[in-house]
Amino acid sequence: MTTQTHGDEELGLIETAKRVLPGGSFGNVASDVVIREGRGGRVWDESGNEYIDFLLGSGPMLVGHAHPEVTAAVEAQLPHGTTFFANNRRGIELAAAIVEAVPCAEKVRFVSTGTEADLYAMRLARAYRKRDKILKFEGGYHGMSDYALMSLAPKRPGNFPSAIPDSAGIPQSVRDEMLIAPFNDAEMVASLVREHRDDLAGVIVEPFQRIIPPAPGFLEALRKVTAEHGIPLIFDEVVTGFRLAYGGAQEYYGIEPDICTLGKVIGGGFPLAAIAGREEIMSHFDRKAVGEEGFLMQVGTLSGNPVAAAAGLASLDILKRPGTYERIFATGRELMGELARLLKRARIAAQVIGEPPLFDVVFTAEEIRDYRGVLRGDAEMLRRFNALLRERGVLKGEAKYYVSLAHTAEDIRHTCDAWASAIDELAAPPAAKRRAGE
Ligand SMILES: Cc1ncc(COP(=O)(O)O)c(C=O)c1O
Repeated sequence: MTTQTHGDEELGLIETAKRVLPGGSFGNVASDVVIREGRGGRVWDESGNEYIDFLLGSGPMLVGHAHPEVTAAVEAQLPHGTTFFANNRRGIELAAAIVEAVPCAEKVRFVSTGTEADLYAMRLARAYRKRDKILKFEGGYHGMSDYALMSLAPKRPGNFPSAIPDSAGIPQSVRDEMLIAPFNDAEMVASLVREHRDDLAGVIVEPFQRIIPPAPGFLEALRKVTAEHGIPLIFDEVVTGFRLAYGGAQEYYGIEPDICTLGKVIGGGFPLAAIAGREEIMSHFDRKAVGEEGFLMQVGTLSGNPVAAAAGLASLDILKRPGTYERIFATGRELMGELARLLKRARIAAQVIGEPPLFDVVFTAEEIRDYRGVLRGDAEMLRRFNALLRERGVLKGEAKYYVSLAHTAEDIRHTCDAWASAIDELAAPPAAKRRAGE
């Protein structure tokens, strides 16, 4: 297996980044690689090293980098202007495509990032219910707002339903407005909803939490108990939207929320996200419909941006074609199966979990149902594995493989070879490793 080397030009950029960026990075992934370009399911760094790309821009590039149809749609829009702050054809068409595709979507409001979409979805639930508290799940990711950064990644989990802030700079008072429940524990969440029903504005959940699928009956139970008490259920579909199925997780798992948030894929690689939901609830964005008291003020400079909408529409056109999701799932299934087989052969305790379009390995012998299950995994081993893979031309995020429609049989073969070689090194006893390094 060849390993990557980094040339002077890339090292110079890394030095500049260290000088001008806190921590030397944009805050997202490791700063020791600088990406120059991407095509299909691959990217290249500034030294010309090639990688099979499972990072996919953290998910948006489901149809692959620089897809000719997406590029053409963007190029067609550029000479006509790039932002208007007013209704425009592409934005309206994208909203219509979302309403057609996503079961709960009767109306759509655009924003620029998933963080904003989740922030407004929670505010929308509060405006509708005229109550303050939101229930979220431990380990659930809903962007970077004060409310979302509660018990996302606690190092030492606390007692449910108390929230633990994940970041400095969050007002103390915010934690009192959030209730935390364990993912996949239908009984506990039902009893929390019943106990707090008079204070609860809404429940927000990633229907497929990071890489953890919902246990059979969990989403059904969540839907049932929230409906019983008239509490809006919000599906964060920023990741799962148009990925698990054209209609997202709500189509894939067959459970319809009241509100959902979308991002990543619908912007085709540009900053665009959305809140979508039932008309009655979404009407709080419309002053005329609900009056001054119930009106949720929401304005954004780039909302419904025509370039982003053109890229999103072109991506959805590609995804809508027959056979698309079968192909993504076939690629993911083959990859998940092969990774599990190689780890088993090496007798490494590991769980390969997720759904075929999005998965990863957790180094633990125990079955995983929730955040605490992932926390019990060997995080250091995962870091080493990811680093070994990067040296072997496989790029991914810390804890996710995003599968692309553009990944080819050759990409799968290369990835499996890289896995085999990296696993050999992971499994090698320390003495053998020392000898190999001599
Ligand atoms: C489930 C989920 N919700 C929200 C977000 C936030 O989206 P953004 O990074 O566009 O703010 C993310 C980002 O990865 C996400 O995975």
